[in-house]
Amino acid sequence: MAVRINSFEQYKEDYKLSVENPEAFWAGVADTFTWKKKWDKVLEWNFTEPKVEWFKGAQLNITENCLDRHLATKGDAIAYVWESNDVNEANRTLTYKQLHEEVCKFANVLKSNGVKKGDRVCMYMPMVPELAIACLAAARIGAIHSVVFAGFSAQALCDRISDAKVEVVITSDGNFRGNKDIPVKAIVDEAIKNLDFVRKSIVFKRTGGPVIMKEGRDIWWSDEMATASPVCEATPVDAEDPLFILYTSGSTGQPKGVVHTTAGYMVSTYYTFLNAFQYNEGELYFCTADIGWITGHSYMMYGPLLAGASSVMFEGVPTYPDAGRFWQIVEKLKVNIFYTAPTAIRALEAFGLEFVNKYDLSSLRALGSVGEPINVEAWNWYNDYIGKGNCPIVDTYWQTETGAFMITPIAGITPTKPAYATLPLPGVQLAIMDAEGKEILGNDVEGNLCVKFPWPSMIRTTYGDHERCRQTYFSAYPGYYFTGDGCKRDEDGYYRITGRVDDVINVSGHRMGTAEVENAINEHKNVIESAIVGYPHDIKGQGIYAYVICDHVPENADVLRKEILDIVTKIIGPIAKPDKIQIVPGLPKTRSGKIMRRILRKVAEGDVSSLGDTSTLLDPSVVDAIVEGALVPIKQ
Ligand code: WT7
Repeated sequence: MAVRINSFEQYKEDYKLSVENPEAFWAGVADTFTWKKKWDKVLEWNFTEPKVEWFKGAQLNITENCLDRHLATKGDAIAYVWESNDVNEANRTLTYKQLHEEVCKFANVLKSNGVKKGDRVCMYMPMVPELAIACLAAARIGAIHSVVFAGFSAQALCDRISDAKVEVVITSDGNFRGNKDIPVKAIVDEAIKNLDFVRKSIVFKRTGGPVIMKEGRDIWWSDEMATASPVCEATPVDAEDPLFILYTSGSTGQPKGVVHTTAGYMVSTYYTFLNAFQYNEGELYFCTADIGWITGHSYMMYGPLLAGASSVMFEGVPTYPDAGRFWQIVEKLKVNIFYTAPTAIRALEAFGLEFVNKYDLSSLRALGSVGEPINVEAWNWYNDYIGKGNCPIVDTYWQTETGAFMITPIAGITPTKPAYATLPLPGVQLAIMDAEGKEILGNDVEGNLCVKFPWPSMIRTTYGDHERCRQTYFSAYPGYYFTGDGCKRDEDGYYRITGRVDDVINVSGHRMGTAEVENAINEHKNVIESAIVGYPHDIKGQGIYAYVICDHVPENADVLRKEILDIVTKIIGPIAKPDKIQIVPGLPKTRSGKIMRRILRKVAEGDVSSLGDTSTLLDPSVVDAIVEGALVPIKQ
């Protein structure tokens, strides 16, 4: 079996093999890696506990596969070209040889600061190569990285550091984002001020802004690296040893730490990267995601490095210094594969074609989309004006929990269809479920999306709370992994994701639990209760609509709104700020106290004509008051 899929026919054959004999299929992929010791058994699993073990008995180190094994053949090839936020600052390039050396050095820094195998290390950093270096260095010594997106607030960071009992935090002085200089170190200081178990904070100097270094705890990255040895044996770990924790939102108020383990994650990220993008040696790949999200983990770090690919890492934002920045980078560096989120596509589309047409985009061969359903209009714009009709668009459907692509076209090999993620990759066995919890067979059907057989990069547990993992993903449909997404399979068997069916909203590709935002809003002293729903938003995909019940009528509703936005920013971060806040006298609740979000969603959408049956509500009159209030334009 060739690992790389070269034709639609081969896709079909490989898919068939992966279903008929999953162990042989995945062993075929796994055989291409460097192992310290090969596995005793390819797969053991049950979805009841759940317990899933891939390549049990094997020993390896993922960084040997990302770095060491490329040195002989492509040591001088580029691993990363780093593009600054500042359009005038020179690029930094890191070859595989240089990246290997930096990783080994920083691995020694971690060791000399007492980090051992199995310890958790938190990274809260801007998009600089040192973030990837820090993660790989942790993996080099068998430590577990937990990257927290640098847009989260001090409190959100504190929660995540506490949950994972992190003793060492890697950060930077500041973060250049557009024309802002965000004081990253100060946010970390605030987050860990009461956490005595955080022993060390290693600070990379990026902006040169003022920082306070706490004696005995805070040390500079450059001081440590100056004396670190460039030689560091890779620590062997077991196939199922955790590689990283990444926190993500669900239907409850508390984010959960999704745990990914080593061997399976390695095999899946490599296989999916290589195939979906059809990466060719020498090509330059540009993924715009932040390493703080799963896309950055799987497709900025591990997938591309495992494939020996060359990647662009961009520090800044798509609209700085203007809305042509992505395309300026594509032209300047001659990018071949470009991978971004629908929200960015829609935002840039709104700025107009003058920012696109200034640049030569002829180097592009394939485009990717991720994070939320891409609407037909955005798909067409991306296809026509960025790809010039010549670049297949891979609409990659997956999740933090799946670790790697599940449903996606294979660039230039399998067909694309606007707004469709199309077909499952080999190894991915999907099921669409009906309201009774039974699998719906055949085509031209719609329901909830599940997976019925394990794949190597699937979630193993939620950190420190396995029951939560079982409850969230394996209890709705016994024997199946439930994605939380609704989905349609059309008459040709192609899949289109229709969006979340749980209390999770997707705002600009960022996943958010409604309960999380509600909990934050409820911290306001004048708020008794709140309810959050998503509503269609032209750029963000979904906007956040907040209904709040106040204890007393606020003197000035605008002041209240501003205070609510400040609280949400403080507790979660600016990405969770509601777009609209409506003060309501009550919420539509059933007699058992459940909020009928269906009604709130309709009102938020502006569709008040068909609110459906409200007779089961405790107080149906509340609906009239909400509708009335919604008709008054809400000022932000
Ligand atoms: C949720 C996962 C996967 C990396 C980024 C987000 C939605 C993701 C697509 C797509 C339609 C998509 C789903 C999924 N989603 N990709 N191509 N088409 N929906 O990761 O934060 O774990 O969110 O994002 O709703 O469940 P995440």
